[in-house]
Amino acid sequence: MARIGILTGGGDCPGLNPVIRAVVRKGMNHGYEILGIKNGWKGLIENDCLSLNLDAVSGILPKGGTILGTSRTNPYKKEGGLEKVRANYKKLGLDALIAVGGEDTLGVVAKLIKDGIPNIVGVPKTIDNDLSCTDYTFGFDTALNTATECIDKLHTTAESHHRIIVVEVMGRHAGWIAIESGIAGGADVILIPEIPVDIEEVCEIIKKRHNRGKTFSIVVVAEGAQFKEGTFVTQEQKLDEFGHVRLGGMGEILGQEIGKRTGYETRVSVLGHIQRGGTPSAFDRVLGTRFGVKAMELVINKKFGRMVALAGNKVIDVGIEDAVAALKTVDMELYEIAKVFFS
Ligand code: F6P
Repeated sequence: MARIGILTGGGDCPGLNPVIRAVVRKGMNHGYEILGIKNGWKGLIENDCLSLNLDAVSGILPKGGTILGTSRTNPYKKEGGLEKVRANYKKLGLDALIAVGGEDTLGVVAKLIKDGIPNIVGVPKTIDNDLSCTDYTFGFDTALNTATECIDKLHTTAESHHRIIVVEVMGRHAGWIAIESGIAGGADVILIPEIPVDIEEVCEIIKKRHNRGKTFSIVVVAEGAQFKEGTFVTQEQKLDEFGHVRLGGMGEILGQEIGKRTGYETRVSVLGHIQRGGTPSAFDRVLGTRFGVKAMELVINKKFGRMVALAGNKVIDVGIEDAVAALKTVDMELYEIAKVFFS
């Protein structure tokens, strides 16, 4: 009987469990044995895994997070990491591996394939929606809905207290969560990493609103946004194993600046990891399920080195190398639509 491993790496997000469930159900229908590798690449380095059967995946569809656990471990940054991955892949008797993750996890897949571990299929996850070659990653829709709901809630306080509320959302160096939650939540200004922040222009928009009788404003800012003359704001300087800084704090700096320049009472709300939590939306459950089934089909057909992807409403497969070659940033057509409401 062929044996398949599945791992989830990088930041967790809603929809991971639907993928795991779909892989197990489709795989078992075709006589495969499925091993769950715990905590991303860490589990493959440490040979930490569990057997996945129908019982193990029963009831997980609506649950956020991942039953396998995750980590931001990069085997290429660990002493002897690649060799341990190679040895454990063999020891576990894996015929193929399904890696569910974002640019970091799938970037490792692209390297492993070059390093002679070819039987891998990728599944794109991330709330940031920043992976190329797929219209959507699962996890994004749930995060977007959470952020939108929070903006709706913040609107009532902004309006009642006649305040400016700055809402900082996640998304790393892509502004997808900011732009879409800002449009959906009726934000008055949306600031994304793709367009440097012009603080004078932001304050002008807010003042103009006040001049036409509006006594509150909602400003949505992506954590990765930066001032024209500045750089992005980080929580600490340390880089993780994939070379990322921990972003965060732009909202606070922006809020102080807006308050100072406009004289309006300003508050800041940082949504943080709330955006990554909770039960997956129906869209993410369906997308995760479709991606999981398709990933298993690729394994069955021995189409390795591929990532499942959404193109329009079709689930297709693309080269993993192409998917990780460049970040997918916000479409400027969408930004132009958002700008219509900056007034
Ligand atoms: O990539 C998902 C994400 O939530 C980003 O939006 C954010 O910048 C980062 O992960 C936060 O990482 P951590 O969970 O390590 O704080």
